[in-house]
Order: sequence, then structure tokens, then C-alpha cells
Amino acid sequence: MSIELSGVSTTYGTVPMLREVDLRVDEGEIVCVLGPNGAGKSTLFKVFAGLIAPVSGTVRIMNADAARTGTERIPCLGVGFVPEGRRLFPGLTVAENIRLGYDAVRPGGTDLAERLEAIGRIFPRVSERLHQVAGTLSGGEQSMVALARALIGKPKLVVMDEPSLGLSPKLIREYFDVLRMIHRDGTTVLVIEQNAEMALRVAARGYVLARGRIVAADAAGSLRSSSVVRNLYFA
Ligand SMILES: Nc1ncnc2c1ncn2[C@@H]1O[C@H](COP(=O)(O)OP(=O)(O)OP(=O)(O)O)[C@@H](O)[C@H]1O
Ligand SMILES: [Mg+2]
Repeated sequence: MSIELSGVSTTYGTVPMLREVDLRVDEGEIVCVLGPNGAGKSTLFKVFAGLIAPVSGTVRIMNADAARTGTERIPCLGVGFVPEGRRLFPGLTVAENIRLGYDAVRPGGTDLAERLEAIGRIFPRVSERLHQVAGTLSGGEQSMVALARALIGKPKLVVMDEPSLGLSPKLIREYFDVLRMIHRDGTTVLVIEQNAEMALRVAARGYVLARGRIVAADAAGSLRSSSVVRNLYFA
């Protein structure tokens, strides 16, 4: 098991947000969480990252109790995070940004140069720009750097919040091709997305989040034709 949420509820102040969320991702899977604006997707991401503590329920990540692990050590369990909006340091170089992901984890049995080489095979364009200041990259390139920063720590699982945001259709296709590739290479993937069409093309199954609740959970093919998804997005 990679991630398991059982009965997770959160609040902002006294306002309920996530409500009794049950969700599970097993090793080797590629899973999506879909939801419209304000559904609670980023809140869910922050629960995975240990940035928001549930008021009830349990969060297990790589078989560890997230509450006991603590935010800073969660990446060391083998989880890479790609936050909404990428959150690069625009004044640092590409290499410095990526290095932050390595330093947060310091994966055993491999050094930084080796990891950068592996990253270069996945993202040749990123390795050509290692010394460029991140703020001067295009949106598509910044997305790749944010993913590279998560992958440099050699995670077993990557969790992404809305990676397609702000990208052109062509760049979104490229991004999802990379997701397929890292999944094929053995990484478990959880992608949280508003772009249902793309996410359901890459994921084998998914969950639908609406107003803080999981309202559907099914195989990607079934979700694609489900009225729950249609009504949420096209009502
Ligand atoms: N720190 C906060 N304090 C109070 N309310 C918040 C806070 N963060 C988010 N919210 C509210 O909680 C709800 C869910 O927010 P969240 O960011 O999880 O949604 P989302 O599904 O990621 O949406 P988006 O598509 O805009 O990224 C929204 O109504 C939002 O306004
Ligand atoms: Mg969000």
C-alpha cells in the first residue's frame, strides 16, 4: 500500500472541508482524483504532505502513520510532491531548485550526480538549462522542473496537485506522457486534477471529489462515461 486515508475529515477553522474521505492507492498504480474548483483537491494534497492534520480519521503513507511521521519526514518515506502552481524559487537556478528536492530526502545508495543524470534522461530539456534562473523558464519548462525536483529524491510514489494548470494542450499531452513513462519505470502515481479528460486518459482508476466528499470511485473507463463526472463539469 502506498497511501490510505480512512474517514479523513478536515476543517478550516470551524468550517468543514474534507468529509469522511476514504482513498487508497496501491504500489504500482496510477490513480487520479478529479474535482471542480473548490472541491478540496489542494486540501487533500496538503493532508498527504502532512501540512494539514485531519480532525478525524487516519492517514497512512507507505505503511507509516503520517501524523507520527511529521511533515518534514514524509518525503523520506519515499514520496515526491508536486504542489499546485509548481512553487519553484524563481531567483534560484534550475539545478538549485532541483537540488532542494534531493537535500530534503538524501536517498541512500545514490549520489546527486547520478540522480541528475537519471533526471536528464527523463527531461533532456531540463538538463540543458540547469544553470538558467528558474523564473526565466516557460511555464511548461517550470512544470518539468517541479516534477524533476520531486523525482530527484527517487520516490516510490509521486503526488501531484493540478499539474496541467496553465499549460497549453500540447504541453499537457507531453506532461502526461512523462507521467506514463515514470509509471512504467515503476513509480506509483497519484495525480489530482481538474482536467478530467486528460487525467482519465492516463490513470487506470480514479476518485471524484465534490464539496469535500468522495462522490465516485471507479475504473477510468467507467468514470469517463459516468453522469457524476459529466454533471460536475458540464452542468
Ligand atoms: N486556508 C484556508 N482557509 C479557509 N478556507 C480555505 C483555505 N484554503 C482553502 N479554503 C477553502 O476550502 C475550499 C477548498 O479549497 P481547495 O484549495 O482545497 O480546493 P481545490 O479543489 O484545490 O480548488 P482549485 O481548483 O481552486 O485549486 C475552498 O472553498 C477554499 O476557498
Ligand atoms: Mg487546488
